[in-house]
Amino acid sequence: MAILRLENGTALERLNDIAGELAALNVQIDRQSIGEEPQLHELLTKESLSEAEKERVLVALDGYFQQLQQTAGYKSRDLLVLHPQVPNLDELLSKFDRIHTHADDEVRYVIAGEGVFGFVRPDGSQVELTVQAEEYINVPAGTEHWFHLTPTRRMKAVRYFSGTEGWVPQYTGREIHFSGVSGDRITS
Ligand SMILES: [Fe+2]
Repeated sequence: MAILRLENGTALERLNDIAGELAALNVQIDRQSIGEEPQLHELLTKESLSEAEKERVLVALDGYFQQLQQTAGYKSRDLLVLHPQVPNLDELLSKFDRIHTHADDEVRYVIAGEGVFGFVRPDGSQVELTVQAEEYINVPAGTEHWFHLTPTRRMKAVRYFSGTEGWVPQYTGREIHFSGVSGDRITS
C-alpha cells in the first residue's frame, strides 16, 4: 500500500488522502490488480528474468496496457527489473536520484517490490511517496521529482511510453531537502 511522507513526519496511507496531497501536481496514483494467473505470480517471485520471461509478464498484463493506450495514448511498454545483482545498479539509479523533470509523463505500474518517488510541490515543500506492488503512478511531464529504491532494492515495474525521448531526465539543479522520517533513503 502506498505511503506518502510529508516533511513534518506525517505518513499518509489512505489513497484519498495521498491523492489530496498530490492534487496540485496532478500526480495520479491508483490501485491495479495483477490478477490471479499462477504463471505470472510465479515469474514475479523470480529475482531476475530473461527477455522471454519479461515478455511473458508484459503479455499477461497487456489488457491494462490496451486500456491505457485507449485512454492515454501510450504506444509502447517495457519491464524494468531492479535487484541488487543488476550490473551497475547504483549507476543506473544515480541518474534519477536528483531532482529532474521529463518532457513526457513518467508512467509506472509496480508489479513487485517497491520504489520511492519524491516530489517538489508548488509551495516548495517536498514529499516522498512509496509506491508498492499493484499500484500505478503517473508523474506528469514537467513535474520536479526524484526516485530511489527502498533498502530491499527490488522492484519490477511496467513502464509505458508515448514516445522514445521524453523520459530522458532534465536536471533542475534544485537540492533535495526532504527530511521526513522515511528511514528508507538509499545512499550509495
Ligand atoms: Fe523521472
